[in-house]
Amino acid sequence: MSISPEQSRSVPAPFILKRVDGRLTLFNSEHPEVSGLCVDFTEGTYRHRRKFGGGKTQAVARAVGVKNRASAPSVLDATAGLGRDAFVLAGLGCRVHMVERSPVLAALLADGLHRAESDSTIGPWVQEFLSFENTDSRGTIESQSPFVPDVIYLDPMYPERKRTASVKKEMQWIKALAGDDPDADTLLPIALTKATRRVVVKRPLHAPHLNQQVPDAQITTKAHRFDMYIMNK
Ligand SMILES: C[S@@+](CC[C@H](N)C(=O)[O-])C[C@H]1O[C@@H](n2cnc3c(N)ncnc32)[C@H](O)[C@@H]1O
Repeated sequence: MSISPEQSRSVPAPFILKRVDGRLTLFNSEHPEVSGLCVDFTEGTYRHRRKFGGGKTQAVARAVGVKNRASAPSVLDATAGLGRDAFVLAGLGCRVHMVERSPVLAALLADGLHRAESDSTIGPWVQEFLSFENTDSRGTIESQSPFVPDVIYLDPMYPERKRTASVKKEMQWIKALAGDDPDADTLLPIALTKATRRVVVKRPLHAPHLNQQVPDAQITTKAHRFDMYIMNK
């Protein structure tokens, strides 16, 4: 995927998009010492989580309701970011449609997906299990296209009360580009009317419930909470 003139214009300073070794990569001109950010589903943390992430026992898989590959639910990831969670779920057999509205993050994700589709190892299942759209997911949820999802997965930004050194550089860049998602609460009521099995919301441990709506069940990890809203209880 090449960088369109629209995408180049939409990259806000100090960020720069460049193609390096075939990968669309994001750099910050104020931090030239920091290596660039790109989506590569065949390497790094993506590869590690696919190989060693804990399979269907990991928290995100249990939250979404993956019991085995054959019956894995279809998922609309309405806040795809850089596609990490979506990639894990696709690896467990979920058909995942990713939706990301930030044009820059979407360009990185589309580029990573495009390269993954032609990878000899993961290409076939990437083509079968992952799809992507650059738009506001509220429209996608309403339209129930390209499919009616069993599960709608929401992981909107959460505004941290203070900037801590522990917030990784990568997350700081993503926040600078995507903002704090101040409209995140509006996603839950729409999702609850369209998901057929459940809506799963990933939150930091200390964060209040999305839209102040108490979930039916929760799974917690050291860093996160998965709030689950179950249909047809
Ligand atoms: C915390 S990140 C998601 C990280 C993602 N779960 C991952 O594993 O890489 C949140 C993302 O949701 C996107 N987002 C928030 N609201 C959205 C909406 N209504 N439609 C599409 N994308 C949205 C933001 O632009 C941001 O990139």
